[in-house]
Amino acid sequence: MSFVITTPLYYVNDKPHLGSVYTTIICDAIARYKRLLGEDVIFITGVDEHGLKIQRTANEKGIKPKIHCDEISEIFHNNWKKWDISFDKFIRTSSNNHELVVNEFYERVKRSDDIYMGVQKGWYCVGCEEFKDNPENSATYKCPIHQKNLEWKNEENLFFRLSKYQQQIEEIINEPTFIEPIERKNEIINFVSRGLKDFSISRTNISWGIPVPGYDNHTFYVWFDALLGYVSAISSNSTDNFLNNSINGGWPADIHLIGKDILRFHAVYWPAMLISAGMKVPKKVLGHGFLTREGQKMGKSIGNVLDPDLLLSRYGNDPVRWYLIKDISLGNDGDFQDRRFVDIINNDLANTIGNLLNRTSSMSRKWFDNKVPNNEKRSIENKLENLAKIAVESYINKFNNYKIDLAANEVLSLAINTNLYLNDNQPWLLIKERDNLPLVKEIIYNVLESTRIIGLLLQPLLPELSSKINDQLGSLYKDNIPWEKQLEWGILISNSSLPKPTPIINKLEYE
Ligand code: MSP
Repeated sequence: MSFVITTPLYYVNDKPHLGSVYTTIICDAIARYKRLLGEDVIFITGVDEHGLKIQRTANEKGIKPKIHCDEISEIFHNNWKKWDISFDKFIRTSSNNHELVVNEFYERVKRSDDIYMGVQKGWYCVGCEEFKDNPENSATYKCPIHQKNLEWKNEENLFFRLSKYQQQIEEIINEPTFIEPIERKNEIINFVSRGLKDFSISRTNISWGIPVPGYDNHTFYVWFDALLGYVSAISSNSTDNFLNNSINGGWPADIHLIGKDILRFHAVYWPAMLISAGMKVPKKVLGHGFLTREGQKMGKSIGNVLDPDLLLSRYGNDPVRWYLIKDISLGNDGDFQDRRFVDIINNDLANTIGNLLNRTSSMSRKWFDNKVPNNEKRSIENKLENLAKIAVESYINKFNNYKIDLAANEVLSLAINTNLYLNDNQPWLLIKERDNLPLVKEIIYNVLESTRIIGLLLQPLLPELSSKINDQLGSLYKDNIPWEKQLEWGILISNSSLPKPTPIINKLEYE
């Protein structure tokens, strides 16, 4: 059985921003973690290319939408490569395969008698590609997310009978782990309790979309089309029966990781569409919060948008990953602060983890002939071994429950405790007495062993740093031994060679 995880399919109106980088990095960490546990992971990402927003963006640039989409989709694809994102599928909703999937799906929903023609009137946010139904909506009201005026629409559209699925959706959203975290779940329970309304699934004034068969001038509503991208990503390349094929490809998805603004689509509309088409619903929708910068919403108009490209070239992959994973509590809004970023990287990665490895490895090389000491004296109670065992258990528990920020904090705590152990035991003083040699060997062995475990625990979070730690300890990870097994205490080989230490992370300066 596969483990299928998805990022949202990003709009191609612009290149990736820090919000999209955030979602994708979290997905990447989960995908890597599951692979390390031996699961057959399918990590899906991609781009959402149709709709009014994209059509307008291309028009403003004076180019055809397809040309615009090709350009930005490639930027997304290359961007994820630059960030070392381990995705398995990259889906473009303008692909032929996807159009066939949408058509097949639509036929099924039609056969369930869930499509009818109606009139759609209302205020529309082009940024969200969504009708807003608050009483205060009007020509002067601005969408709080996009800070743009809404547009009045009044047109004949095809509708999907969402209201028919009220009861089934209530059951699904109340399942204990379908929507997480709890705040997101409550939001949706609240929304659904007000009664589900049918929603329109076609548009008549937009040419940049998938044509609705049998209805001239109608293209599919971009969300109806885009959600199906998750299915097309894993439907094999045959000419028909895509939906059945997607089951062999791993459907249903195990996790849709998304931002809180697109929760309704994933936790309500999408499951109802799938039930209507006779398909299984995803197992979990994990909704993260929004990133702000220095306390303010990031926006082009405010001029405080953080360019992820710049962050990557200035600081590198691991520092940005660490900040986003460890410092932002998954599910809540988080703030990106420049000074805090520098402080955290210097304290956590350079001082606490990097220095620990560096100085212990130097001591070991100096006193034990460039080698890991022989762990000959075994104290009755090994304090550091106990701490490491607790940290590993707790990390696994947190990761299994997708509390990734807390899992990252477990690694950091183990590194802090290992430093304390080293400082409390002061092997640099003990070594002066010959009789203390067995004890010094034990202390140094313990610290190096704990550092090896820290490196392993960092593997799904900071792949680059983790592999540098591994190299510094003499390349110990063994692909043929299960990762969880390698987390056990005592695997570091006594008397194995220690390479000359080099800094694994550079200290950052305030800009
Ligand atoms: N195209 C739709 C998704 C379709 S999925 C079938 C879409 N795209 S988006 O590019 O606008 O947004 C993608 C994701 O980025 C969303 O999950 C959204 O929540 C997230 N973010 C956008 N701005 C964000 C922040 N400032 N912070 C964190 N995430 C944010 O919606």
